[in-house]
Amino acid sequence: MKGFIFDLDGVIVFTDKFHYQAWKQMCDRIGIYFDETINNRLRGVSRAESLEIILEKYEGTLTEVEKAKLMEEKNGIYRERLTTMTSADVSDEVRETLQTLRNQGFKLAIGSSSKNARFILEKVGLLDAFDEISDGNNITLSKPDPEVFLKAAEYMKVEPKNCIVVEDSHAGIYAAKAAGMIAVGIGDASSYDKSDYSLKSFGELLDIALKYK
Ligand code: G6P
Ligand code: MG
Repeated sequence: MKGFIFDLDGVIVFTDKFHYQAWKQMCDRIGIYFDETINNRLRGVSRAESLEIILEKYEGTLTEVEKAKLMEEKNGIYRERLTTMTSADVSDEVRETLQTLRNQGFKLAIGSSSKNARFILEKVGLLDAFDEISDGNNITLSKPDPEVFLKAAEYMKVEPKNCIVVEDSHAGIYAAKAAGMIAVGIGDASSYDKSDYSLKSFGELLDIALKYK
């Protein structure tokens, strides 16, 4: 049995702008500098670790309770933006490729650091497209740690070496290799030399699938 594990943000859906808007609104309120370059560093990184990166520019000190409140604030704004998502936010190419892979007998899972993964999948009508979901709610360590992918493999009952991970973040490619899996880079990670394959478009996954059938 072989399986595909998909990162969600930046691979299946594009939520970068919503993350950016939500962090930016929170940062503006408390007076911390935030821009797209910092936002790019948050790809694949958990909410808590993202906040730590953002606070590198912050001169004061915050308690754990204050940090939790800031994360809640950001997540509230982010979830509001997510409610605008519909099935139109997933391309036909992605939908059809997922269906074809399934028809070919591959198991499909999500491997995302996000605690909002199920919510997003529900909004875009893709909850049933995956056999398993491993996300920010079932892990203690975020990418580049391999935990989220190893859990996905365990849920699918597929050996790690038979899993193909599709990722847009460097942290995610690193995590896939640390898990002993095949790593496919797309988007931002398509030029990352640690990946085994790189995709220009999602549909090219079918060519990779042919090699592992
Ligand atoms: C994904 C995104 C990250 C985000 C993380 C946590 O990995 O690429 O930018 O920080 O999920 O998302 P969450 O929805 O739990 O705040
Ligand atoms: Mg991603």
